[in-house]
Amino acid sequence: MPSPRFSKPKGPGVREAQRLIRTHKNRAWVELALRYGKSFFYQGTLVTCDAQLVEQLLMQRVHTRTRSIVYKKLNQIIPLAPGLLFMDGEPWQRRLEAVMPAFTKARVDTYAGYMHDCIVSYVEQWGASTAIPDLYREIVNLNAEHLFRAGLGLDPQTEHARELGQALIDFKFDLMDPDARLDWFGFSENQLRRFPAFLKAQWRRRRKAGQLRRAVERVSTSEVGSYAQGLNWIHCLRETGFTNEEVTHEVNHLYGAYNALDYAFTGAFYELSRHPQWALLLRNELAEVLGPEGYPTRDTFQALPHTLRFMREVFRCYPVSMGVSRRTGEELRVGELTLPAGQEVLILLHALHHHPDYWDQPDTFDPDRWKEEPRFPYAYVPFLKGPRHCIGRHLAELNFVLVLNAILQRFDIQVHDHEVPLAPYMMPRFERELTCTMARHKEPCPVKMK
Ligand code: HEM
Repeated sequence: MPSPRFSKPKGPGVREAQRLIRTHKNRAWVELALRYGKSFFYQGTLVTCDAQLVEQLLMQRVHTRTRSIVYKKLNQIIPLAPGLLFMDGEPWQRRLEAVMPAFTKARVDTYAGYMHDCIVSYVEQWGASTAIPDLYREIVNLNAEHLFRAGLGLDPQTEHARELGQALIDFKFDLMDPDARLDWFGFSENQLRRFPAFLKAQWRRRRKAGQLRRAVERVSTSEVGSYAQGLNWIHCLRETGFTNEEVTHEVNHLYGAYNALDYAFTGAFYELSRHPQWALLLRNELAEVLGPEGYPTRDTFQALPHTLRFMREVFRCYPVSMGVSRRTGEELRVGELTLPAGQEVLILLHALHHHPDYWDQPDTFDPDRWKEEPRFPYAYVPFLKGPRHCIGRHLAELNFVLVLNAILQRFDIQVHDHEVPLAPYMMPRFERELTCTMARHKEPCPVKMK
């Protein structure tokens, strides 16, 4: 228990917090901060969207050395969770060093050609027009293919690779099954009632984890390195002496990390459909700079200002998680707040990215806000910053522009429902499936670029 000298701004009860989330949907995260302040206590955790505090938590190594209890618990409960995101200390360092070479800026540019070919061959299957029943699922399938080539060094057409792809996607969708998800904001009676279903799901997941392990083993022994040798994670991990078990954990974990992109793309295409002028502007910029058959690398990013502004706005509006957890490594003082060492903290990314003290018209999707740098740099941290930032950032950004380019230069995207809120989970998803049509577009009409 922290001693009384530590200030404890009081937050909502769990019922009230969950009621706000059900009622206000996407806006609830900011609503909480407006009602209870940017930092408040909730079920023993300090919840914050205070940019000043976030800066300290992310940038001071002492607060990143030990992983939050929440991550450690997840590591124990979810089969196959032990990826490097959940680790700390020497095992984290060892694993990070093993995979890091595959994610450097220069290295990811070498993936661009593979990924572009793969994306184009996938989207060409849409023909003149395709009705897509679930945009998110379609993007998961699209991304899985080039993840295979670039990330795992496999040819997605081979039997074992297909088997592994299926096992990874199946495992991921199972984790996101709404009937067996407990990732709500806080723990309430409601979750207690769901606990038996959750435990049952964990049992089922153990079986699926076994299937996944066998699928990784099969590709490791038969095909590793046959495609894009040396670039892939399985290869990197094996070279560093990881066991089959560890390789499986990390492959599953990196695939899970890749899923952040699937969600960001779903948000991107949803917004492009709501703002067709942006679809046109980006299409023309990409065609003008890259040519109709060309593809971007990170080196060409600076020639694509509108595309980059759009991407930054998507990552502001659709952060990978509503919150990330940290644990203070020593006493921490920010303004009036003093926290003891070992305090669990939840950083509310969505609220940080939408708080009216930090953003003008935070609920408006406006890529042009990025003509200027944000006034509060730590109010925008989609990949976090500091010692525990996302190592996949360069790959994620490249992937984002590659997919945008391949699709926008060929198709118009019409999402049929433009009023779909996010579901009330910490790991966000749209509340309903987004049905859409991808229709091959006519020649681009030139738009004057500002
Ligand atoms: C839009 C795409 C992505 C976003 C917004 C994103 C965001 C994040 C965030 C916020 C974290 C920190 C989580 C925490 O500490 O609680 C993180 C960690 C991580 N991400 Fe990403 N990520 C994305 C894509 C990727 C991709 C494509 C990869 C690689 C396949 C990747 C690999 C990782 C890894 C390995 C970590 C753990 C780093 C560590 O704990 O040291 N991410 N990501």
